[in-house]
Amino acid sequence: MYGRSVEDPAGFWSDIASEFYWKQKWGQPVYTHNLDIRNGKIDIQWFKGGKTNICYNCLDRNIDAGNGDKVAILWEGNDLGRDATLTYTQLLARVCQLANYLKSIGVGKGDAVIIYLPMLMELPIAMLACARIGAIHSVVFAGFSAESLAQRIVDCKPKIVITCSAVKRGAKTIFLKDIVDDALTQSAQNSVKIDVCLTFENESALQKQMTKWVEGRDIWWQDVVPKYPVTCDVEWVDAEDPLFLLYTSGSTGKPKGVLHTTGGYMVYTATTFKYAFDYKPKDIYWCTADCGWITGHSYVTYGPLLNGATNVVFEGAPNFPDAGRCWDIVDKYKISIFYTAPTLVRSLMREGDEHVTRYSRKSLRVLGSVGEPINPSAWRWFFNVVGDGKCPISDTWWQTETGGFMITPMPGAWPQKPGSATLPFFGVQPVIVDEKGVELEGECSGYLCVKNSWPSAFRTLYGDHERYETTYFSAFPGYYFTGDGCNRDKDGYYWLTGRVDDVINVRYIYTRVLIHPIYLLLLFELYGAYVQWTPHWHS
Ligand code: WT7
Repeated sequence: MYGRSVEDPAGFWSDIASEFYWKQKWGQPVYTHNLDIRNGKIDIQWFKGGKTNICYNCLDRNIDAGNGDKVAILWEGNDLGRDATLTYTQLLARVCQLANYLKSIGVGKGDAVIIYLPMLMELPIAMLACARIGAIHSVVFAGFSAESLAQRIVDCKPKIVITCSAVKRGAKTIFLKDIVDDALTQSAQNSVKIDVCLTFENESALQKQMTKWVEGRDIWWQDVVPKYPVTCDVEWVDAEDPLFLLYTSGSTGKPKGVLHTTGGYMVYTATTFKYAFDYKPKDIYWCTADCGWITGHSYVTYGPLLNGATNVVFEGAPNFPDAGRCWDIVDKYKISIFYTAPTLVRSLMREGDEHVTRYSRKSLRVLGSVGEPINPSAWRWFFNVVGDGKCPISDTWWQTETGGFMITPMPGAWPQKPGSATLPFFGVQPVIVDEKGVELEGECSGYLCVKNSWPSAFRTLYGDHERYETTYFSAFPGYYFTGDGCNRDKDGYYWLTGRVDDVINVRYIYTRVLIHPIYLLLLFELYGAYVQWTPHWHS
């Protein structure tokens, strides 16, 4: 499959895309791209001309296939004993009610919506409701400050902000609505005034009457949304219409609004989920990431639901009330696929094995890791203690920008090496280059780039295509530069070594700016002036 995916990407991805529902089939060619800045504007398009809707493909399509009564979301609250479930049919009804409400206040195709919610069911519901009507969601992680939220509001000028009263994380209560109030004041000072702030009452954390309120702007979700019809027509959008914006902080400058479009993102996230986790319809899946990050977009909301999976959404903190909470949840829901980050693995490892071993965990089948290189000792602990030595670990390397997994093991398909993300996913052609941008062969060490496009590649930075081109396509012309350092071993396995973009940016500034002819001329002139005037200064 990998061979075909790189020899005939158009045929390979068309066959997979055909398994989804398209109101109208895409045109030809299946994809076009220019990744070489020397040949003009960077441009990536997949399935252009195709009309589809990702919410329809997540919900209606699975319901039509007979899975309406299957559980879509298993929600586990912060406090022990608080939980809820939604089947695919129930989820669709909730999504439609919100979609109808959004339409009623004038949100439509192409409008931005900011979602500042914790891991309540309402978070994926809000994302799907936006997708259903063609609005562009931008989820802001509900741990970000008022300043960060305001900055994002000012950048994308949403028609509405969706939030909740407060959330409990562990023993702490975080007053989200207060943070939003502050952010809305700040954005108004920057001439971006928000007319509607839809607020979900998260009863267990903070009740209605205790929440600060701005009459005329603030609206309780529970007061309006349930009154709307439980069906809502779908807005068919082009495969290349924007689906969402997600801001990444980046090491320098203002946050970058990474823009993903609809068709390619849908096909790729669904396919990576299916293969990298060896997904089977009976699986119960839990990804511990928050929907405020790309992991939550691609592998809590879209990837699993596109596959008709049963998905856990967890509101709380993984060490509350104690370090065994994750395994308590694994046993409670009989989770078979568990996807998390090395930081969590390491912190639980420090707490001691007994927090793990007092739970059975016998439902576990596949483990996953993302976010940073997983050090071999944490890998071994995860494998031997959590997985009882029987669950392969998918160490998935990817980025907000890539939308989906790029380098990842496929459970059981090839040998694993602790600490290596192993080999590229279908259709991905990674290359390692030296500092001059020369592609290295075989065993080597250098900068990780990708030399082709893949369906879920980001298409631009919102409102700043030039920054997109300079940040990702200028350092090594002809390639997408990931910003990561990487080694490749003799078996062709990839070993990520961490961010190097700062180093590369400095090099870029040095060559493009410091050696620029105008600077040289200026230096020359200064020197001339110095030679001419020094004698006078002395006298
Ligand atoms: C950066 C992307 C992708 C979702 C979470 C982070 C690092 C991510 C791995 C991995 C080694 C990894 C890279 C990458 N990274 N996964 N499996 N092995 N490094 O998304 O915030 O866009 O960060 O995270 O350095 O470039 P992000």
